[in-house]
Amino acid sequence: MEDKNIKQKEFWSGKGGDYWVVKQNEMDIMLNPLGNQALTKLNLSNDAKVLDIGCGCGATTLSIAKMVSHGEVTGVDISVPMLQQAKTLAKNKNINNIEFKVTDVQVDEMPTNNYDFAFSRFGVMFFEDPVQAFRNISQSIKENGMLSFVCWQEPSLNPWQSLSIQVIKSYLEIPTPPLRSPGPFAFQEKEYVHEILEKSGFSNIKIEDNQQDITMFSGKSLKDASEDYLAINPVVTEMLKDSPESLRSEIITSLMDVFSEYHKDNGLLFPSATWLVTANK
Ligand SMILES: C[S@@+](CC[C@H](N)C(=O)[O-])C[C@H]1O[C@@H](n2cnc3c(N)ncnc32)[C@H](O)[C@@H]1O
Repeated sequence: MEDKNIKQKEFWSGKGGDYWVVKQNEMDIMLNPLGNQALTKLNLSNDAKVLDIGCGCGATTLSIAKMVSHGEVTGVDISVPMLQQAKTLAKNKNINNIEFKVTDVQVDEMPTNNYDFAFSRFGVMFFEDPVQAFRNISQSIKENGMLSFVCWQEPSLNPWQSLSIQVIKSYLEIPTPPLRSPGPFAFQEKEYVHEILEKSGFSNIKIEDNQQDITMFSGKSLKDASEDYLAINPVVTEMLKDSPESLRSEIITSLMDVFSEYHKDNGLLFPSATWLVTANK
């Protein structure tokens, strides 16, 4: 692998990846309904060859494998622990039309004109050079092949993120990442996403607004959900590691205050805003 996306590799093969492995079930409950919207767009035939970009712990790759029972799916990701988890799940479920590869889709070589479809659930916003990455994706798809992914719109439309960051920022100095820098909200501007795909050689680009409620920390009490919320942020965890316990407790109490109106029997129910993006090669 080339010397690119280093910070992302450190994060996703380090604390970030470890966290996602432990919390896979909860993350899947939150993200499944959104990923399914993007998957439905592909209208997969059961003999299709599919690429799952930034597949993480493999929930979507496993679903796709079932849908393409006479085809095959390849999950690619830079996270070693998340891919390990994905491989274990596939093995335990005896799914054979699936493979997982450690691949940086921006820089690593992928087979040319190979896939009928490329898909991603929140795995395409972390590239240092998105155009290079989408060119690479494009060359791996067959002529007229189709791409579909889901990504977040701006944080203010996603209170699961914006509310908590406001709270945490009132206690800790956490930096605001520059607009478009690699991270969950890199693709918040519709025009920017369009421009990237156009420059990468995609056509028939459609970017659809999707507003949908999502459940975080399913089944948890308000206190447990707020504690877990704080724990999922690796930057905050690192900053709080040498702080007195009282500071952590204060932040959790403030999070409980702002989250209380979203707490329902089955966890935190938040509105969300995503882009459903499709394009053809
Ligand atoms: C937000 S997680 C989503 C994981 C998974 N798609 C899901 O929905 O559960 C983002 C994923 O993108 C992967 N990723 C980030 N940069 C990547 C790159 N350059 N190439 C491949 N995967 C990458 C991360 O390792 C991580 O697994």
